[in-house]
Amino acid sequence: MLKIGIVTIFPNIFKPILNESIIKRAQEKGKVKFEIFDLRDYTDDPHRKVDDRPFGGGPGMVIRPEPVFNVMEEIKKKSLKVKTILLTPQGVKFNQRIARRLSREKHIVLICGRYEGVDERIREALIDEEISIGDYILTGGEVPALVLIEAIIRLIPGVLGDEESATLDSFENGLLEYPQYTRPANYKGMKVPDVLLSGNHKLIQQWRRKQALKRTKERRPDLMDKR
Ligand SMILES: C[S@@+](CC[C@H](N)C(=O)[O-])C[C@H]1O[C@@H](n2cnc3c(N)ncnc32)[C@H](O)[C@@H]1O
Repeated sequence: MLKIGIVTIFPNIFKPILNESIIKRAQEKGKVKFEIFDLRDYTDDPHRKVDDRPFGGGPGMVIRPEPVFNVMEEIKKKSLKVKTILLTPQGVKFNQRIARRLSREKHIVLICGRYEGVDERIREALIDEEISIGDYILTGGEVPALVLIEAIIRLIPGVLGDEESATLDSFENGLLEYPQYTRPANYKGMKVPDVLLSGNHKLIQQWRRKQALKRTKERRPDLMDKR
């Protein structure tokens, strides 16, 4: 069972998404458990403010150390082996390999930044890994946290059914996936390749492999170089 803690000032963002589809089923199967921490519950500020102006001036606000240190202290009281991850555009770029590694953890905590980000002392003292979902700036770490959650959970053994198996997905073997077709075999004159209707599994496998290589070479030559 993977326990995922989420530290956020917007807990309601998560509820609808965590209670649908594969993420919901993963919880029902006992494969994953979520704990959502509202950062505002961990501040001593009478107005539940978690941010303040940056020292040295400049625009925006910064998340103060106190509520994040408080919530992490509470989490670590109950669990010694926690991997604490900060969502930040300055982190390592997330990919399938990182998702697979994190799917093997026992307890991760995702810290969602807001405003101009978090006080540097949070990063220095509390964070094990900093992860970005790409080279662009979002308003908060909540959507990035959900991206990690989606990617990680489907890799936990037993979460996906056989028909949804993740092992053939793009990036799993360093290639993009081959093209997929379903019924009808002829749609408005656009035909499914004959080989897929042949019933010859060896030929189908060869065709798929060739297509995956071709597609990866055309669209993601960087993946071919890595191979
Ligand atoms: C507006 S951003 C702050 C950006 C920060 N001033 C900087 O330049 O690095 C607010 C929060 O959104 C989250 N965030 C924004 N873009 C992200 C990305 N590409 N990957 C992960 N988290 C991101 C982070 O938690 C960040 O603290």
